[in-house]
Amino acid sequence: MKILVIGGAGYIGSHVTREFLDQGYAVTVLDNLSFGTRRNLFDEAVFVHGDIRHPLQLREIMAEGFEGCVHLAALKAAGESMVKPETYAEMNLAGTTNILNAALSAGIPNVIFSSSAAIFGSPDYLPIDEEHPKHPENFYGFTKLEIERIMEWYDRLKGLKYASIRYFNAAGYDVEGRIQGLEMHPQNLLPVVMETAAGVREGMKIFGDDYPTRDGTCIRDYVHVSDLAAAHVSAFEYLVEKKESLAVNLGSETGVTVLEMIHRAREITGRTIPADAAGRRPGDPAELVASSGKARELLEWRPRWSDLDTLIDSTWQVYRKNFDLT
Ligand code: UFG
Repeated sequence: MKILVIGGAGYIGSHVTREFLDQGYAVTVLDNLSFGTRRNLFDEAVFVHGDIRHPLQLREIMAEGFEGCVHLAALKAAGESMVKPETYAEMNLAGTTNILNAALSAGIPNVIFSSSAAIFGSPDYLPIDEEHPKHPENFYGFTKLEIERIMEWYDRLKGLKYASIRYFNAAGYDVEGRIQGLEMHPQNLLPVVMETAAGVREGMKIFGDDYPTRDGTCIRDYVHVSDLAAAHVSAFEYLVEKKESLAVNLGSETGVTVLEMIHRAREITGRTIPADAAGRRPGDPAELVASSGKARELLEWRPRWSDLDTLIDSTWQVYRKNFDLT
């Protein structure tokens, strides 16, 4: 079966591409390489350099015929989205509409969409299940929620089947070392910890140590990117088999504090990782933890690599290699 992976040269997209290839699918990757990198491409997959803001280009590619399209191409910096909503609207909202319209006209029946825990905003209760009220607190999260709603309408009106996969905190790298591309200027916790361990940064900041948590730092639910990738394939198979759309939360269901991450990273890497407490980062909820019961039930999804040590070690192996460290 043929799958189009849009955003397949990015950090999550390359892991999703790898998983579809491993499962025997024929994959075409479309990416504009603004955040993705050629290093994340695989010889077995066809690569098309293109942009979701160009509807004609999308139609041309999709006319080749695919059983499914995975859409991971988006801007994802929550803070930036509050300053540049128009850029986020153009890329995330208009870009996705282009994809959905092209899929409809090409007769692609199934779309797998990268959604985010950001659609929920600050939690009313924990763990966050699929029924949790959705009140995004940044424009990025709003774009993800709006796309989910557009897809609901397209399903109702046009029969397009979709799977919305709401990632919690994606982390880790392919444990076999087949993906080596680093994200440029990362802001997320684990890559920042790794850059500090590698000496690329002199030190890092802990954003807030006075939260009402066990050690005062924020709790997040880190889920291995290969576990996320496996869920994309299962979700596609679910759509093909059941012909019913679905939305699932994907997390490891385990909360880890910022300090726990840093301490364990020091032990695993054997490096100092200087980290100083700084003020809270605006918009950070104290705790976010997923309930992934629905994914476990409907997709038979079981995280295999989302324990803290594998998350840290698989990432460190990539940073170590990239920076020639022993
Ligand atoms: N943090 C630090 N120092 C840093 C970077 C992060 O202390 O240098 C802290 C943050 O304050 C937060 C935690 O580490 O408490 C995790 O922060 P991330 O930026 O890695 O992740 P977020 O939880 O803020 O957001 C991530 C994705 C979003 C997604 C969200 C869903 O970046 O796109 O998870 O849960 F929406």
